[in-house]
Amino acid sequence: MEIKITSLDNIHEAARQFITAMGDNTVFAFYGKMGAGKTTFIKAVCEELGVTDVINSPTFAIVNEYRSDKDGELIYHFDFYRIKKLEEVYDMGYEDYFYCGALCFIEWPELVEELLPGDAVKVCIEEQEDGSRTVRFDAE
Ligand SMILES: Nc1ncnc2c1ncn2[C@@H]1O[C@H](COP(=O)(O)OP(=O)(O)OP(=O)(O)O)[C@@H](O)[C@H]1O
Ligand SMILES: [Mg+2]
Repeated sequence: MEIKITSLDNIHEAARQFITAMGDNTVFAFYGKMGAGKTTFIKAVCEELGVTDVINSPTFAIVNEYRSDKDGELIYHFDFYRIKKLEEVYDMGYEDYFYCGALCFIEWPELVEELLPGDAVKVCIEEQEDGSRTVRFDAE
C-alpha cells in the first residue's frame, strides 16, 4: 500500500494508517535516502503507539528502546547507518531483538540485509519534488 505524507501537519494521520496496515508483522525495515524522513515517520508511529519518551535519531546507539504507555509493550528502533562491520551487529545480539516478537523499526536495513528475518516488511520512504513523502510497503 502507499501512504502519502503531504506535510508534517498530517504525519500522525499517516502514522495511524500505517499502524492499521501493520497486521501481525513485527519487523519493519525502512529504506530511503538520507533525509527521506525515516526517523521522523518512525517517531510519529511510535507516538501513535503510545510512546511518550523523547525519540531521537539513535545516532550513537545502534538501538533505542521505547515503551508504549498505552499497553506497556517495548518497541525497538535501530539505526545501522554507522556500523562498520556486521560483527558489531552480532555483538549487540540482534537476534534477541528481531525474533522476540516486539516491534522493531529499522533504519538503514540495507547494511544488515543478510541478517533481516525473512518476514521483515520492507517499507520505502521517498521524498517527492514537492517535499511530500510517500511511504510504500506490502504487509501481508
Ligand atoms: N513527511 C515530512 N514532511 C516534511 N518534512 C519532513 C518529513 N519527514 C521528514 N522531514 C524533514 O526531513 C529532515 C530529515 O528527516 P529524517 O531525519 O526523518 O530523515 P532520515 O530518513 O531519518 O535521515 P537519515 O538517513 O539521515 O537517518 C528533517 O528535517 C525532517 O523534519
Ligand atoms: Mg534517521
